[in-house]
This record gives sequence, structure tokens and C-alpha cells, in this order.
Amino acid sequence: MIRVLFVCLGNICRSPMAEGLFRELVMRRGWDGVIQIDSAGTHGAHIGEPPDERARRVMAGHGIDIGGLKGRRVSRADLRDFDYVLAMDRDNLTYLEGLGAGPRTVVGLFLDFARDAATREVPDPYYGGPDGFERVYALLEDAAQGLLAEIEARLPRA
Ligand code: 4NP
Repeated sequence: MIRVLFVCLGNICRSPMAEGLFRELVMRRGWDGVIQIDSAGTHGAHIGEPPDERARRVMAGHGIDIGGLKGRRVSRADLRDFDYVLAMDRDNLTYLEGLGAGPRTVVGLFLDFARDAATREVPDPYYGGPDGFERVYALLEDAAQGLLAEIEARLPRA
């Protein structure tokens, strides 16, 4: 089992979008049950809340339902339990590094796995319009493909 945790600030926009998108990709490739996916926020303001409506709408437009997800805060235990803990921006990453990672946990920026993106950070779409959420989706999709390729290289072929 490979466990992947996506982390942003509020856990209501970027990281639940990443979770939903990556889960969809993993399912399509038949790795569900082998790759486990979750998301969390560095800030506690939206604990228990579903993803932002704009995030849900953009994901639904791509055929992915994230309405059932609930915001939670990242914990020290996450940094030991997950194989990959992937931050959406450098502020999130600095916070995660402050928690201290376990020996087998890769902590980094999600966009380090992207092939085409001209940025290493997923911009916070919270105070912008719907275009910002579509841009987030495109960046996440690029990185999700790269991450899946890296994980697949570690998995034994059935
Ligand atoms: P996220 O976006 O980190 O992508 O979930 C945000 C959500 C909420 C806030 C900021 C960013 N906020 O300030 O409440």
C-alpha cells in the first residue's frame, strides 16, 4: 500500500481537488486498493466543511464528485503514516517541514511532479474567480500524471 496526502491551507479548495483528481486517475489505472489518497489543511478554519462550492463545480465539470469530502487539519502522525505528503505551495511545505517527517515519508511540492507547469506552486484560488479554479485543475492534472508515473515505477506489476 502506498499512501498519498495532499496538503493546502484550508483543505477546501486545492488539496481536495488534488485528492479527487488523483483518486480518479488511480481508479482508472486499476490501482485503487493499492494507492490510498487523502487531503488535509495546515489551518484549522474549515475543519468538517465540504470543499468550496467553486472547487466542487469545477471538479464536477471534469466528471469528478468531491462533495463528500470533509476538511481536516494535517497532524504530526500524517508525516509518519503517509509515504508522500505533498504541499500545494511553499508556505504549506514550510509548515509541514516544521512538523518533522518520518524516515520513509517524502515531503515536497506536488508540482515538482508536473512536466509542463511553469510554476512549482499551485496558486491559492480562494479570493479569485472561477478561472482560478480551472487553472488549479490544469496544474493538478499535470502533476497527478507525473506522480502516478513515479508511483507506478515502485509498484510490482500484477
Ligand atoms: P485552499 O484555499 O488552501 O486551497 O483550501 C483556501 C481556503 C480557505 C482560505 C484560504 C485558502 N481561507 O482564508 O479561509
